[in-house]
Amino acid sequence: KAPYIYYKEKQLMMEEVRVEDIIKETGTPTYLYSKGSLLNQLKQLKEAFGNTKLLICYSMKVCHNINIANVFVENGCGVDIVSGGELYRAIKAGADPKKIVYSGVAKTEKEIREAIEADILMFNVESEQELTRINNIAASKNKKVSISLRINPGVDAKTHPYITTGMKENKFGIDSEMGVNIYKKAMQMEHVEVIGIDLHIGSQLLDVAPYGEAMKIVADYVRQLRSMNIPIQYVDIGGGIGIPYKEEQASPDLNEYARLITEPFQDMPDITFVLEPGRFLVAQAGLLITEVQYIKDNSYDKRFVIIDSGMHHLIRPSLYQSYHNIIPVIQKEKSMNTVDVVGPICESTDFLAKDRQMEEVTQGDLLAVTDAGAYGIVMSSHYNSHSRPVEVLVEENDYKIIRRRETYEDLLSGEII
Ligand code: LLP
Repeated sequence: KAPYIYYKEKQLMMEEVRVEDIIKETGTPTYLYSKGSLLNQLKQLKEAFGNTKLLICYSMKVCHNINIANVFVENGCGVDIVSGGELYRAIKAGADPKKIVYSGVAKTEKEIREAIEADILMFNVESEQELTRINNIAASKNKKVSISLRINPGVDAKTHPYITTGMKENKFGIDSEMGVNIYKKAMQMEHVEVIGIDLHIGSQLLDVAPYGEAMKIVADYVRQLRSMNIPIQYVDIGGGIGIPYKEEQASPDLNEYARLITEPFQDMPDITFVLEPGRFLVAQAGLLITEVQYIKDNSYDKRFVIIDSGMHHLIRPSLYQSYHNIIPVIQKEKSMNTVDVVGPICESTDFLAKDRQMEEVTQGDLLAVTDAGAYGIVMSSHYNSHSRPVEVLVEENDYKIIRRRETYEDLLSGEII
C-alpha cells in the first residue's frame, strides 16, 4: 500500500502526515482517507483500459461522503447511485448528471421522478414493473428517458455468498431468458429510450475469470439485441474488482480484467463501457483509528483488546467474517500475542478481529484498522447511541476534516421531543 500508508521512525504515516498528529486534533474513533491513494487507484484502472471508450462511475455507496465523491468527480468520473439520497449527494459532490447511472431493485416513484428531473445518463432497470413505472412517470413529464436493463448472465463470481449478485437466485436484475422480451416491450414504449445493457456479478472478485465468462455471454446477447434493431450503445459491467485484504492475497490483474471485458466486443467498436467500481477505488485508502480502552484476560487463556470502535463503525468482520489487518499507530516492537479485538456494543458479534496474532498493546494505545475505506462508515449505525467516527481526508502534508464529531444532540436529530 506504500507509499500512502507506511511507517516512518516507528510512526504510522498517511502520505506525509503522522496519524498520531491528526488524532491529537480529532480524537478517536476516526476514519482517515488518503487522497493520493484514491487517485492512484483510479489511474491504474484508467490505464488498464487504454483507449477504450469508457465511463468510470464511482459507486458512491462504498463511501458516500461528498468530499470523497468529489475527488472522483473532479477527475472525470461519473457516479453510480442507488437511491434518491445518493442522487442528492452526487449532485452536491458536483457530479455531471449526464454521467450518473442509477441502479437498484426498489426505485420508488419519488426517486424515479427526481432522477428524471435531474436528467441522468441512464436508469439500470431491474424489473418489468420498474420499466413501466419509469415510462409512466416520463410520460407525465413529457420526457424520453434513457434506460438499460440489468441482465443476469448467471455466472458464479465465486465470492462470499452475501455479496454475489449475478446468479439466477438473486433478487437483482432480470433473468437473461426473460430479458429479450422486456427489451422488446421497452422498444414499444414511447417515453423510454433503450441505450444499454447492465450487469453486476458480485463484489470483491480477486480472480477476474468470471468477468470473462460473463462478458462472452453479454456480447452474444448484445449481438442478438442489435440484430433485432435494439440499439445497445452502453455496456455497464457494474463493479466488483476486489482488493487483497490479506497479505497472502494478490491484487486482481487489471490488464486481464480490461482484456476480458473488451475482447468479446471487438466487432462492436462503437460500444461505450461503463464501470461502477467502488471498493477498488477506496478500500485501501482508508484507515479506521481507534483507541484501546481496556485489556481483559479470562481464565480460558483468552485476551480481549477492548476498543472504542466496533461493529457499529465497521460491520464487515461481523457480517461477512471479513478480515481487516489491525496495526499499531506507534510501533513498540513488543512481543506478539493472540487476542480478540472487540468493541463496546452489547452483542457477541461485536468484534473487528478474532484470535488475531498482534503485537502486545496497552490501555491508551492507538490502533489502525486497515483497508477500511469501503463499506466502512456508510454501513455504520447509531446502535447503542455511540456517535459515528470523524472522517478526515489527507492530501500530501495536509489534511481536512470532512465529517465532524457528532454530539449527543446530533444523536437525537429527527426525533420529536
Ligand atoms: N454496482 C452495483 C450494482 C453494486 O451492487 C455494487 C455493490 C457496486 C457497483 C460496487 O461494487 P464494488 O466495486 O464495491 O465491489 N458490503 C459488502 C459489499 C456489497 C456490495 C454491494 N454492491 C462488503 O462490505 O463487502
